[in-house]
Amino acid sequence: MRDSCERDRAATNAVHAGMQPDPSTGAVMPPIHLATTFERDVDGGYERGYVYSRQGNPNRSSLELALTELERGVACAAFPSGMSAAFAVLFALDPGAHVVVADDCYYGVGELLEGPLARWGLRADFVDLSSVDTARQAITQDTKLVWAESPSNPMLKVCDLAALAELAHAQGASLCVDNTWPTPLGQQPLLFGADFSLHSTTKYLAGHSDVLGGAVVVRREGVFLDRLREAQDLAGIVPGPFDCWLTRRGILSLPARLERQVESAQMIAEALHGHPAVTRVHYPGLADDPGHSLASKQMKNFGGMLSFQVVGGETEAMAVAAHTQLFRRATSLGGPESLIEHRASIEGAHSQIPRSLLRLSVGLEGTGDLIDDLCQALDAGLST
Ligand SMILES: Cc1ncc(COP(=O)(O)O)c(C=O)c1O
Repeated sequence: MRDSCERDRAATNAVHAGMQPDPSTGAVMPPIHLATTFERDVDGGYERGYVYSRQGNPNRSSLELALTELERGVACAAFPSGMSAAFAVLFALDPGAHVVVADDCYYGVGELLEGPLARWGLRADFVDLSSVDTARQAITQDTKLVWAESPSNPMLKVCDLAALAELAHAQGASLCVDNTWPTPLGQQPLLFGADFSLHSTTKYLAGHSDVLGGAVVVRREGVFLDRLREAQDLAGIVPGPFDCWLTRRGILSLPARLERQVESAQMIAEALHGHPAVTRVHYPGLADDPGHSLASKQMKNFGGMLSFQVVGGETEAMAVAAHTQLFRRATSLGGPESLIEHRASIEGAHSQIPRSLLRLSVGLEGTGDLIDDLCQALDAGLST
């Protein structure tokens, strides 16, 4: 695990970055600026920095500044969802570009690459990026972008971010890491050489399952950032002020929420690990997990997400999910309420996810209650 100084800095940034008392009233929480247009100065300038809200808005600035600081980047572009952020990154590539993508990336990103962005001319190869050798073979001179997710969804595979950045850069490509699961408090991909850190802020950052959002933080300025700004300014792919405000507010409590979620996830993983009805637990915090040693070096904690496989297949897994009382049967993650999901059936018939697998997003409930709930659901589900 990386040092406590970094953890302190991140927690302080979560509270203070991009947050100033409102200069006109002293309010310590910023007002929501709903105005779409801003008054010009008498000399014709815009000294106060805002012209029209597609181009910029104080609530969006506050959110973008906070994420820039948290990820230790140079700039951030906020979007109305994680998928629009992904779209903006991929659409910034020229037609014909080759992309190497983690084979277990968030399935929406895969669908985007195989559907609209294939029509736009992108060529994608889906490979196991947790193997550096496989990545080396897949990244060629034609590759313009490598798209990684670590730990991955829902198999929790861990990729060596520094090695991927080196391989990508050696071929003149960029590395984008979907950092939604770990959050910047669990992992800072830009410090390992990644060029972009992408978030669905819908999840841990906003943190309350009540607002969609996305963001991309960049390691340096340049054409790519300009193209992300074009997606905002020209294409108008921007989040509304209230959504930005809600997301920035969510980040205030991220350190406390995540600390508790990580602690509970570790205890749940350990409890499931020893359970006779569970054949496999996927969580890098377990000492015998294949990603444990890499995650220990690369991450500041092991995160609040895990998955496990039950004895049997889809019927048994569905039966276990049907018997939970605290874990809600719903997709998504990172909120205060714990969620359980049968990932394969959400993704559809073509999904490569084991049918016996259930994914957990660990919430803020009492850890003991969550463990009891899973144990009773395993008993009830597998005895029917
Ligand atoms: C890892 C990851 N990336 C991206 C997304 C897409 O984000 P959104 O739903 O905010 O569009 C999700 C959504 O579940 C996700 O889990």
